[in-house]
Amino acid sequence: MFVRLICLTLGNFRTVTKRMANSGATNSRRSSLHGNWSSKLAFILAVTGAAVGLGNIWKFPYMVGVNGGGAFVVIYLVCVFAIGLPIMMSEIMLGRRGRRNPIATMRILGEEEAGQRRWALVGIVGVVAGFLILSFYSVIAGWTVAYVFKAATNAFANTDVTTISEMFDTFVGNPFVIGFWHTAFMTVTVTLVALGVERGLEKAVRIMMPALLALLLILLGYAVNSGGFAQALKFLFEPDFSKVNGEIVLSAMGHAFFTLSVGMGSVMAYGAYLPQEASIAQTSIAVVIADTLIAILAGLVVFPIVFANGLNPAEGPGLVFQTLPLAFGQLAGGGLFGTLFFLLLSFAALTSAISLMEPTVAWVIESYRLSRRAAAFVVGFIIWALGILTVLSFSTLKNATIFKGTFFDNFDYLASNILLPLGGLLITVFAGWVMCSNSSSDELDPAAGYIYKAWRLLARFVAPVAVLIVFLNAIGVFE
Ligand code: PHE
Repeated sequence: MFVRLICLTLGNFRTVTKRMANSGATNSRRSSLHGNWSSKLAFILAVTGAAVGLGNIWKFPYMVGVNGGGAFVVIYLVCVFAIGLPIMMSEIMLGRRGRRNPIATMRILGEEEAGQRRWALVGIVGVVAGFLILSFYSVIAGWTVAYVFKAATNAFANTDVTTISEMFDTFVGNPFVIGFWHTAFMTVTVTLVALGVERGLEKAVRIMMPALLALLLILLGYAVNSGGFAQALKFLFEPDFSKVNGEIVLSAMGHAFFTLSVGMGSVMAYGAYLPQEASIAQTSIAVVIADTLIAILAGLVVFPIVFANGLNPAEGPGLVFQTLPLAFGQLAGGGLFGTLFFLLLSFAALTSAISLMEPTVAWVIESYRLSRRAAAFVVGFIIWALGILTVLSFSTLKNATIFKGTFFDNFDYLASNILLPLGGLLITVFAGWVMCSNSSSDELDPAAGYIYKAWRLLARFVAPVAVLIVFLNAIGVFE
């Protein structure tokens, strides 16, 4: 009752202040401590940069392969649109309303909407997830950078399946080499975050993303003629639900969170810099469609090569590094295309890595009064050190398996399948149930009533219930 009262009072207060703002009076909305995006397109580009990355091109194909194909793809698509999209909208909305780092935003909004500071927990789940994800993300991004050099020196020319696979195994089996590339990638990420130039990257994203898309289309042309295309289509789009179990559904949902970068405050941190007039729904829909398209394209490129060369679709994290080089080895101008491709992928990974660090760095700056440089260095160092465990997961610690496998497997599982969905669950419950509808409709396109209604239905019922069911199903409650 009391909450409702505050809610109504605040609602009225906001309508008044909004009117004041419209009439030219001072706008009493919070403003970000770190400035705003320069335009609506800049924001779309930034969120696309955060979302599109290794998740689409490296992780999606291998997850599809490991989890048996079509059925995984269908479940992933349903999760992306029914769960990921409303959560992305909620996250951006909360970010823009709070205008602080995710922990402070959730604390402020929790207090404002429900008189409870403990919603800051959502931000803490996100910080932990960000640490875990970036620790292994940086290692894989390091592989990508190393492959730029391999392609540039024509290492893929005149090779076959065996040589390419051996090349990959020798490479990841050497902890010093992959440790070096992990260090190099983290150094660049930390430097950019420390300089605070991430918002300058929007211009680069504007060129790099379409270029990446163009290269994927060229590769698609190759894949269509590789001899394995029909089989790949069948594998990707003919679902066989008889093989699906709770773990596969959980992985598909976890991957939907991972690929869209939702559930950990990453897009919330970006939302904090979003100008008030930009449409959250439009932005989110554009980003989700672009992200899905790139992932599906990657699948359409990788699997024909898998089947044409008799490779194992369930190869795991090395899949892309063992298929695409084969294509570059055979394509005319493959050396150049390969170099460009791995370069663009490294860049896509860099924009995602930056977004993985941003929530934590913003939080450290705002709460410990550290400079951006110091904060980026401290956070980056801890992540780098944690990453060594992933570096070793492919060599020295390959057989040191517990729970879900190596350190890498466990970090990925814990972050993608547990922490991101948990963070996402709390975010939609907050946005859909705790926040009063005056506040949410005020943020989410007050004019487009039906979008708001659809969001509210998904955010209040569909997304939270689905996440809970998938969790319970995975731990065997329904068996
Ligand atoms: N979405 C990114 C990718 O697909 C990874 C990521 C996850 C980035 C979570 C930020 C937060 O590569």
